[in-house]
Amino acid sequence: MQQQLDWSNLGFEYMQTDSYFRADFKDGRWGEISACADPNFSIHVAAVCLHYGQACFEGLKAFRRKDGSAALFRPKENAERMAATAKRIMMEPPPLDLFIDAVTKTVASNLGWVPPYGTGASFYVRPLLIGTSPRVGVGPATEYSLFSMGMPVGPYYKNGFFPVKAYVQESYDRAAPHGVGNVKVAGNYASGMYGDYEGKHKGYPICLYLDSAHHRYIDEFGTSNFFGITKDNRYVTPESTSILPSITNKSLQQLAEGMGLKVERRKIDIDELSNFKEVGACGTAAVITPVHSITHGDKIYTFGKENEAGEILTRLFKEIQGIQYGEIEDKYKWMLNVE
Ligand code: PLP
Ligand code: COI
Repeated sequence: MQQQLDWSNLGFEYMQTDSYFRADFKDGRWGEISACADPNFSIHVAAVCLHYGQACFEGLKAFRRKDGSAALFRPKENAERMAATAKRIMMEPPPLDLFIDAVTKTVASNLGWVPPYGTGASFYVRPLLIGTSPRVGVGPATEYSLFSMGMPVGPYYKNGFFPVKAYVQESYDRAAPHGVGNVKVAGNYASGMYGDYEGKHKGYPICLYLDSAHHRYIDEFGTSNFFGITKDNRYVTPESTSILPSITNKSLQQLAEGMGLKVERRKIDIDELSNFKEVGACGTAAVITPVHSITHGDKIYTFGKENEAGEILTRLFKEIQGIQYGEIEDKYKWMLNVE
């Protein structure tokens, strides 16, 4: 049944929907996916995820499209990234088809919660993998649970596609060069909370982190990748061992190339910020968030207008959202139909 919500004014908040899905790994094999309604479940007090952080998650979106269908954006990429994350922290990777089945069922069984076309909102799917068996010495669990839940969301930053002010957080690092910044473990987000909190307290909704070895090269924002457009129209995004390989960024790079922009993936010295005419934060939740200024110590770099996104970011935003909402041909076959 179609829910009646104020779709155009949703924030990015948890909301309970009809059902979520669960599959358990036990005795060396994954069991069947089952539907659950009660958001509370019981867990062993000595579960490895609770003590030693064997937990990771994913984030992807489903969209109600112009033709009335609902479709997920690039779920196979998320399935692969969860498997890579799981291997890095010695969890049991869910098979790709199990992951895709779980996220597809999450959308299909909550269709009434998928925001109608034209509202600008979407349905955020959050898969979660945790090590559940008890252990007191440090080591991997032998049992795992995969969950997949979803809820309707609006923009991650409250004004949506509107420029924000960013702050370079140098007092607290988020990820070590050969640590786990390149995978989506839950602990990365705990490690960024204090830095993000401090940035917000100073009036910046978004923090930029530099490589933690030198504090010289740009890594990424707390919940999204960094990309910039140079004055001579190159799309430049960091190469680093401590950033998450963003599926949104990968997609935007393809779109930018299609638009005739040269794409560069390389180290970006923080001083290079003065070469950019547009800067964006990109990710599933953030989509593209234009960045108007970046404060680094007593320096402030500004990009474009304070109250309007730049031309290239606007084109990229329209292009990716156009594909997601079924307004533009999906020539790269990114969308997986659910209904
Ligand atoms: N970087 C971090 C730290 C993130 O949490 C996310 C969100 O998933 C991203 C980048 C963007 O990745 P994606 O575009 O795959 O959502
Ligand atoms: C996402 O963009 O999906 C994220 O995971 C970022 C954040 C909500 C943690």
